[in-house]
Amino acid sequence: MSRLVIAVDGPAASGKGTIATMLGETYGLPVLDTGLLYRAVGVALERAGGDLADAAAAAAVARRLDAADLGDPALRTRSAGEAASRVAAHPAVRAALLDLQRRFAGQDRGAVLDGRDIGTVIAPEAPAKLYVTASPKVRAQRRWLQLKSAGEAVGYEEVLADIRVRDARDSGRDAAPMRPAADAVLLDTTDLTIPAAADAARRIVEEARARWGQSPG
Ligand code: DC
Repeated sequence: MSRLVIAVDGPAASGKGTIATMLGETYGLPVLDTGLLYRAVGVALERAGGDLADAAAAAAVARRLDAADLGDPALRTRSAGEAASRVAAHPAVRAALLDLQRRFAGQDRGAVLDGRDIGTVIAPEAPAKLYVTASPKVRAQRRWLQLKSAGEAVGYEEVLADIRVRDARDSGRDAAPMRPAADAVLLDTTDLTIPAAADAARRIVEEARARWGQSPG
């Protein structure tokens, strides 16, 4: 296999989205933020007056998902993140979104995907896998600043509480729980600036490419 597929997993506001975007630019690869898929399902279900706990209804929305809807700014809100985490716990929703993600990862030119289960479920064969983390307090601070600059009136303590609830739900579910793949490299961005985190991520990918070059799969 000669395609470079990069899996970037990790919890909310760990820096994985920024890192995935930067890696896409560095290697000239298309990037898929898979969190947006779950956000789009949660938001569409809520708009239709559906119940986020209704697995069949959520899966029906997921099957109809149009990738063209992923640019909606409403997907970036705090409530969209919560709705996404709730619908993402349904195995039928995950199954409905699997093909789209696998096709993205299977493109001839390679791809970068960020999410929770890219290295474990979507692209377990990816030659480069990162698991990006940061302390809950630092993640809450980053997310709070993002939400504030997007005009959402929310307190830091509420955002920290959201992050803790989401971490517990995303890592505690039975279906494809958030966890590092056995061969993922951990990158803790707690004390790193964005440029330092980007450099560290590039080094991880370069080391993976060197290993992969020695033993192409
Ligand atoms: O990365 P994010 O914050 O946009 O993700 C929103 C939610 O979607 C997250 O709390 C869990 C879910 N998700 C998932 O279960 N699997 C993925 N690959 C990506 C996101």
